[in-house]
Amino acid sequence: MNGLKIVAGNANPELAKRITELVVEKFNTKYADFLDELCRDRRGKLAGDVVPLSFEDVWCEAEVSYFPDREVYAHVEKTVRGHFVFVVQPTCPPRGVPRGPEKPGPQTVNDIVMELLLLVDALKRASAERICAVTPYFGYARQDRKTEGRVPISARLLANMIERAGTSRVLAIELHASQIQGFFDIPLDHLRTDHLFARHIQANHPEWLEDLVVVSPDIGGLFRARRVAERLHAPFATLAKRRFRGGDLEVLLVIGEVRGKKVLLVDDILSTGGTLIRAANKLLEDGAREVYAACTHGIFAGDALEQIESSPLSRVVVTDTIPQATTAAHPKVEVISVADDLAEAIIRIYLGLSISELLVRGR
Ligand code: R5P
Repeated sequence: MNGLKIVAGNANPELAKRITELVVEKFNTKYADFLDELCRDRRGKLAGDVVPLSFEDVWCEAEVSYFPDREVYAHVEKTVRGHFVFVVQPTCPPRGVPRGPEKPGPQTVNDIVMELLLLVDALKRASAERICAVTPYFGYARQDRKTEGRVPISARLLANMIERAGTSRVLAIELHASQIQGFFDIPLDHLRTDHLFARHIQANHPEWLEDLVVVSPDIGGLFRARRVAERLHAPFATLAKRRFRGGDLEVLLVIGEVRGKKVLLVDDILSTGGTLIRAANKLLEDGAREVYAACTHGIFAGDALEQIESSPLSRVVVTDTIPQATTAAHPKVEVISVADDLAEAIIRIYLGLSISELLVRGR
């Protein structure tokens, strides 16, 4: 059986390392008997001792650096010949990556995308058997259709580039629109986060649950909010919003009952924070008592954190699909991890086991 390797660029190495630790731990405990079975020959004899895995067996160091003219350089440090390699690289803006004249690093989301493409190309040319792009946050996803004439479908182009580079499959979390799965002609496993938010709120904020209504900030996110509402046994509602060219937006109306209620806004992306803040203002105007938010991908672009601080939002829960080292300490922000789900999915994909339990219901 070929080995499993995990490699990462500069997008979210902390998450990649945490996933690797969990993969090793699960292989040595939960999946130990399964591996033991795989290592037996037809007579049921073990081919040799089954030695516990270590972090170094799975983690594959890669150098991803920048030339003075800002071209990207990628080098995978260990052999990957015949291995199944998972490249953990959310295509998000770089956050917390050291850079400066001595050590230039990624500056934009496009640098991070290029890192992913070059890593995949390096792995393919190094004879990796299969390559899975693990993009917990899939950037450019909001540009998933033509909203006016003479504009690209950028999410489709990004999907094409990732596939053409040599990727065999993709693992993503809470895509902006589920249809993006169809932009790839290779398998894509799409994990959700509703179970993580529900579990976090039930364990840490039971007081939110009393008189709660779960609200989507736009009609496109209605099913996402409904999944969280069902898990929390709460009613759900939605807002209708209109976005103008350049990103400005207007919240038009609340569809559903929020007067006298606590509200949990559920969204996929928090970028400038404008959507959540405008939504919170509208909900409070319409009689909501308090507003919290659960948002899978916390980009926190520009001064989003300051905007949230001075907004009426009481609390914002995000995941670590994008690094949150600088935001996690903020009193209004709580961070939950997707590492365990990704580790579980990676092992099941590698072993050829079903992951529908993770895809459909979470655990
Ligand atoms: C839009 O359709 C998305 O689901 C998010 O609501 C949006 O991307 C959030 O962006 P911002 O925080 O800049 O308003």
